[in-house]
Amino acid sequence: MFTADRLGKIPPYLFMTLRNKISEAKAKGIKVISLAIGDPVDPTPEPIVEELCKTAHDPENHRYPTDEEWGMKAFRTAVANWYSRRYGVPLDPNSEIVALIGSKEGCHHFALGVVNPGDTVLVTDPGYPGYKPSIWFAGGEPEPVPVKEENNFLPVLEDIPSEIAKKARAFYLNYPNNPTGAVATRQFLRNLVEFCKSWDIAVCYDNPYSEIVFEGEKLSFLSVEGAKEVGVELNSLSKSFNMTGWRIGMACGNPEIVKAIATVKSNTDSGIFNAIQYAGIVALNNCDSFTDQMLEIYKKRREKLLKALELLNWRIPPNKGTFYLWAPVPKGFNSAEFCELVFEKCAVVLAPGSAYGKFGEGYVRFSLTVTEQQLEEAISRLLSNLKGVAF
Ligand SMILES: Cc1ncc(COP(=O)(O)O)c(C=O)c1O
Repeated sequence: MFTADRLGKIPPYLFMTLRNKISEAKAKGIKVISLAIGDPVDPTPEPIVEELCKTAHDPENHRYPTDEEWGMKAFRTAVANWYSRRYGVPLDPNSEIVALIGSKEGCHHFALGVVNPGDTVLVTDPGYPGYKPSIWFAGGEPEPVPVKEENNFLPVLEDIPSEIAKKARAFYLNYPNNPTGAVATRQFLRNLVEFCKSWDIAVCYDNPYSEIVFEGEKLSFLSVEGAKEVGVELNSLSKSFNMTGWRIGMACGNPEIVKAIATVKSNTDSGIFNAIQYAGIVALNNCDSFTDQMLEIYKKRREKLLKALELLNWRIPPNKGTFYLWAPVPKGFNSAEFCELVFEKCAVVLAPGSAYGKFGEGYVRFSLTVTEQQLEEAISRLLSNLKGVAF
């Protein structure tokens, strides 16, 4: 009776049945291993934690954050230096960067800052489930753009009907991609800029996995000529520095869109705790080697899992980026049914592909963000208990 109509659009949680089963199993003392969530268990690098502790003691930082609309200038400068060093992208900290509490916030504020009620917004399917609710909250209508294995899970831009492109206001994309593990090529990004320019579509390029690339180029959307004219890139310290719980990220690029996001943000909250921003500066300035080490760790985990699953005859195309494996389910199951089977037989939780959109059906997602010990235990359970399944 008190709930606004807009919440009616949010679909029921697809994981609900599984979540109940997980709770029941845990209550019975069964040791459940979740490979369903992309939340690194590996700790944040020590220098970052130390900087937080040090700056948290300074009463100056106990007050509202300075420069609150856009984030601390020193943080924005660190973002600009990181983008220049890692991706060759020049950014003006004064007009092209706003600090966020993660790229998820950026997805939301982008919608409120760019999308008008009734607007069509393109979103890849399968895709990150956070996009659609943000679009609905802004009054927009998400329009799924299928991404398929035969096209390396990249959208085929020329297949988007012109009547849809014409009315589209914005396009949400994310490469390295959650959930498929696909990466974008420079040529694809060039085509994307051309396509969006020609149809006047604003790009929300969500890039929190920018550092996790095994095959292909580590790419920023903004490194492509003309990108700043059509869009912004969201990024985050969550995945690159094991900082998911800290809530810090950034939106960069087109000054008009950055300003729109900053306007929504400054009228929603009062900025990020300064001590977290100081810690973020240490991450961006001093932790490149940590990011590179994590990449090697994910690579090893990915190889271990792929090799093990081959013993079941389960052949999974290796993910080119991110810490997710996108695996086709065996014949005779849909993705939710197969997740339930794996849970019942192995007490291992996988994410059903259908949770990521209609075109995610037929797949399950593995996350490599568990400890080596958990991964080994999960592998051993899968190998022992899925022998009878015809992969
Ligand atoms: C594609 C994508 N975008 C955004 C997010 C949210 O990340 P953050 O922690 O930066 O808000 C995630 C988290 O899993 C994600 O996979």
